[in-house]
Amino acid sequence: MANGMKTLLVGAGHMGGALAAGWLGRKRGGLAAEDLLILDPRPGDEVKVLIDVHGLTHVKQVSLAQSTQLETVILAVKPQILEEVAKSLGNLLPPNCALVSIMAGVTISRLESLFGKRPIIRAMPNMPASIGAGVTVCVSNELGETVEKRATKLLKVAGTVEWVQDERLMGPVTAVSGSGPAYVFLLAEALAGAGFGEGLPRELAEKLARETIIGAGALLASSDKTPQELRRAVTSPGGTTQAAMDVLMGGGGGLPELVRQAVNAAERRSRRMGAEVNAR
Ligand SMILES: NC(=O)c1ccc[n+]([C@@H]2O[C@H](COP(=O)([O-])OP(=O)(O)OC[C@H]3O[C@@H](n4cnc5c(N)ncnc54)[C@H](OP(=O)(O)O)[C@@H]3O)[C@@H](O)[C@H]2O)c1
Repeated sequence: MANGMKTLLVGAGHMGGALAAGWLGRKRGGLAAEDLLILDPRPGDEVKVLIDVHGLTHVKQVSLAQSTQLETVILAVKPQILEEVAKSLGNLLPPNCALVSIMAGVTISRLESLFGKRPIIRAMPNMPASIGAGVTVCVSNELGETVEKRATKLLKVAGTVEWVQDERLMGPVTAVSGSGPAYVFLLAEALAGAGFGEGLPRELAEKLARETIIGAGALLASSDKTPQELRRAVTSPGGTTQAAMDVLMGGGGGLPELVRQAVNAAERRSRRMGAEVNAR
């Protein structure tokens, strides 16, 4: 056991599969194949390749013998099948086995009610996790504090890891970073559409929009300036960017107000979805 732990991944779909690929790629402190057990009735094609290449143990049901070895369980299934998973797994887990849940909206108290008092970490990753460039925000119950280092190490393969103390912040987190990649993709779509509207060939407009967002993101990543400072640096008074900014930041609050409303809507939706999932 290279890392002195046994890890079970429950649900090897998009997000679980991305985590497994990261652990086995071992870029940032991964897992040895013999330390990882995968529970998924139908793993996706990419995970099937990982299973074959690394000789991973893949099961449809965890046995008692396997469960006694477990130190960490990563729950990466859809919230709708959480109860089914808890029924088949809950009684098998050793009392100190930690749970790391990436399920959107499922609260720590819901997990405690299904799996008992144990170290529990609730985490919200985002889509760039699939290329190791995501950001994951975590919160733990009291017992979970003892395994925060271990959880951080496991989640770091998906990108940056941040911790918060207050679980209520997971709603705003979901609205900003969980859903956030979609806002940026929409900007890329809108910029390409506007370029086409101004007469650029569609393909060139799409390329310019994509490269501009990639370049601006890379600059943001490499610079120690704030987004506001970088924006000001490309906005000469009276120039072309200024003319666009007058529209984007103009009457009625412009883009910042629209984004505020969008994030607020996502946060409210996250709370409603959480209420549905946790009331079951
Ligand atoms: N994708 C994201 O961007 C993202 C971001 C943040 C959080 N999350 C959270 O991550 C979780 C997984 O999302 P996802 O997009 O990775 O979903 P997904 O691709 O559907 O993956 C879920 C996997 O679990 C499998 N599964 C179904 N029943 C199972 C069972 N009883 N035991 C074990 N595995 C079972 C599914 O198999 P079948 O396909 O055959 O049903 C599938 O392979 C969700 O709770 C979501 O809220 C996702």
